[in-house]
Amino acid sequence: MKGIVLSGGSGTRLYPMTRAANKQLLPVYNKPMVYYSLSTLMLAGCRDILLVVNPHDVEAYHRLFGDGRQWGLAISYAIQDRPGGIAECFLLGRTFIGNDRVGLILGDNLFYGDALPALAERGAQASGAVVYAYWVADPEAYGVVEFDASGAAVSIVEKPKEPRSNWAVTGLYFYDSDVCDVAATIPRSARGELEISDVNAHYLKQGRLTVEKLGRGYAWLDTGSPVSLLRAAQFVETVEERQGLQIGCPEEVAWRKGYIDNEGLARLIEPIKQSEYGKYLQRLLTRG
Ligand code: TTP
Repeated sequence: MKGIVLSGGSGTRLYPMTRAANKQLLPVYNKPMVYYSLSTLMLAGCRDILLVVNPHDVEAYHRLFGDGRQWGLAISYAIQDRPGGIAECFLLGRTFIGNDRVGLILGDNLFYGDALPALAERGAQASGAVVYAYWVADPEAYGVVEFDASGAAVSIVEKPKEPRSNWAVTGLYFYDSDVCDVAATIPRSARGELEISDVNAHYLKQGRLTVEKLGRGYAWLDTGSPVSLLRAAQFVETVEERQGLQIGCPEEVAWRKGYIDNEGLARLIEPIKQSEYGKYLQRLLTRG
């Protein structure tokens, strides 16, 4: 099972925060934004991960993740010269994907919910394409799914002016390896991008798309505008402070899933033991 984290883009809505810093490296409360999406892919069982990054940010991501070995992962990097759309990652990642299934997550998306690990594992192991729909107040900002009376998805439209429903397609997707061929055949949209909605519409037409609804027990937040970034930070702070448990902590996921053992976790704690984050990891090791 392969995984792709999209960490490129231009981040224009967050200007000037993104003038010198890549969006997905900005903090959401107490950790870099990309930690949340990476952790979600890890929960789905992806250990072989491709990070799609802008040319001038690759060094910073290397500093953050290296080759991923410390977390029991294999992380490699693909450079996207300019933001040509979400689906472009399947052209950049064709060799990486090979004949395997692949999970894709947007680096500015935050998922939270008790059943998320099981849900993501199911998507990873299913066939064809699996996407998730979430009820939002402002569907016109997203790809929108229309369902028929029997609950089957009948259309997906990117940023419709008159949305047919409130069900937005979230930034977590699973595909079979055919996705590379699909992405190579779809035309670029009016804004010059390879649209992920067109890839999903292709699978839908072939009857190979599963749309799973995320009910009200989940949180799906994106962090691409100043106000949504602030709200996501407040959400994380609220839940973490109440429970004393962290959201989006890759070290913890790696340890709980057995990607690293106690010694591996202890090695990660040593250089950061003075930080709140290091103390949290130490508590895991001591108390479980
Ligand atoms: P967007 O939020 O749609 O675009 P953006 O990040 O460039 O931000 P803005 O709209 O403010 O200019 O991107 C969604 C996610 O996908 C985000 O995590 C960045 C990533 N992305 C890429 O990595 N490459 C791309 O070509 C595009 C379009 C997005």
